[in-house]
Amino acid sequence: MDKIRIHGGRPLSGSIKISGSKNSALPILAATLLTREPCTIRRVPDLSDTNYMLQILKHLGAEVERASGTVTIAAVKIDSIAPYDVVRRMRASVCVIGPLLGRCKEATVSMPGGCVIGDRPIDLHLKGFEALGAAVRVEGGNVKVFAPKLTGAVVNLRGKFGPTVLGTDNVMMAAVLAEGTTVIEGAAQEPEVVDLANFLNKMGAKIEGAGTRRMIIEGVKELHGTEHDIIPDRIETGTFLVAGAIAGKGVTLKRTEAQHVQSITDALIKSGFKIDITRDTISVAPNGATTPLELTTEPYPGFPTDMQAQMCALLSTTDGISVITEQIFPQRYMHVAELKRMGANVDLEGPTAVIKGVHQLHGAPVMASDLRASAALVLAGLKAEGITEVSRVYHIDRGYEHLDEKLSELGAEIERVKD
Ligand code: EPZ
Repeated sequence: MDKIRIHGGRPLSGSIKISGSKNSALPILAATLLTREPCTIRRVPDLSDTNYMLQILKHLGAEVERASGTVTIAAVKIDSIAPYDVVRRMRASVCVIGPLLGRCKEATVSMPGGCVIGDRPIDLHLKGFEALGAAVRVEGGNVKVFAPKLTGAVVNLRGKFGPTVLGTDNVMMAAVLAEGTTVIEGAAQEPEVVDLANFLNKMGAKIEGAGTRRMIIEGVKELHGTEHDIIPDRIETGTFLVAGAIAGKGVTLKRTEAQHVQSITDALIKSGFKIDITRDTISVAPNGATTPLELTTEPYPGFPTDMQAQMCALLSTTDGISVITEQIFPQRYMHVAELKRMGANVDLEGPTAVIKGVHQLHGAPVMASDLRASAALVLAGLKAEGITEVSRVYHIDRGYEHLDEKLSELGAEIERVKD
């Protein structure tokens, strides 16, 4: 198993390109199950999660061809059962239920297991399928959904912690082939949901209101093949902006979409960094004294929960007291204990982290627990004095394409070593 070793204190500069979005690619790859015709998807990032999704599609019978970031999928003849040993490795596999129900009027998919970032039920997904007329049964660790036909309906997908991203995707993918009109109230507005809706509309679907809280989906008889470019990864963008803030003297990110990361650039400007934006680049640079922040994670367009850990790393060396409140996954603080091993001063009070900025972090061996927590530990390692070794980096490879190589392009002294 690999680990990443970082020699801290090297200033970052220069530019790198941002990859396609993991959280957009996963549901879009699943959506290709909705047609027999070939679909070509470009800018699919090379990640273990996207590779898992392609394995699931192959397992369901789809033909899959891949040439670097371009994937062509033809789901001519498919099965509707996705067993445990195929889907257990990735929660997002749950988003094959919607397209299978839409196309085959049935699906059997293993129920997603536990997750270190917190409780992640799928009750809202199932509520949506039932609203469309599907019978839902959970038995033997599997979710079974089936319906002789699907009928458009009004369904509210807003839960205790706000809208559900993959729930909105799943119900949208089932509703595009339903008879009649579906209205999703309390829909997620994330750019990845909009990217999926744009892809489905290119396949011949009739979706309006993507990106708003109310989506209207008029069912159609069938969908056809198409081509699509995945949007830039806004969380990778945010992660590298924080890298440029925590250890940079001027870093530029290319192939970005500034609008998608506005809550992140606003936070960095507020904490004292200079941000320059052009059509498809964003630059971050120091701008004198930094200030502590109060941040609360929210559904898009609010500050993303997937950037909370990285901001903890940045604010751990920002003079003063910062307060972060995690509203989406209240227990999502696995990174805090590891940051404290590096000398950070963080107190957790339920969903809130109170961070007292310290002058210096110190390198240490630390353990990654999930995707974004591991990115935060790498960022802290860039700033820390001495050597930091992050183990279990397979978490990083789930969601970041060549993170260590891109950081080394920016001047970081970082290497991947065998554990
Ligand atoms: C997506 O997960 C992302 N994953 C997550 O990113 C991200 O953290 C999350 O949205 C929130 O932005 C992908 O897109 C593959 P949710 P998802 O359903 O859709 C509760 C990363 O790091 N909820 O929007 O699974 C849930 O417990 C990953 O890339 C219900 O109560 O998240 C949470 O508190 C991690 N019932 C809240 O809603 C449901 O049926 C939001 O979860 C569904 C969700």
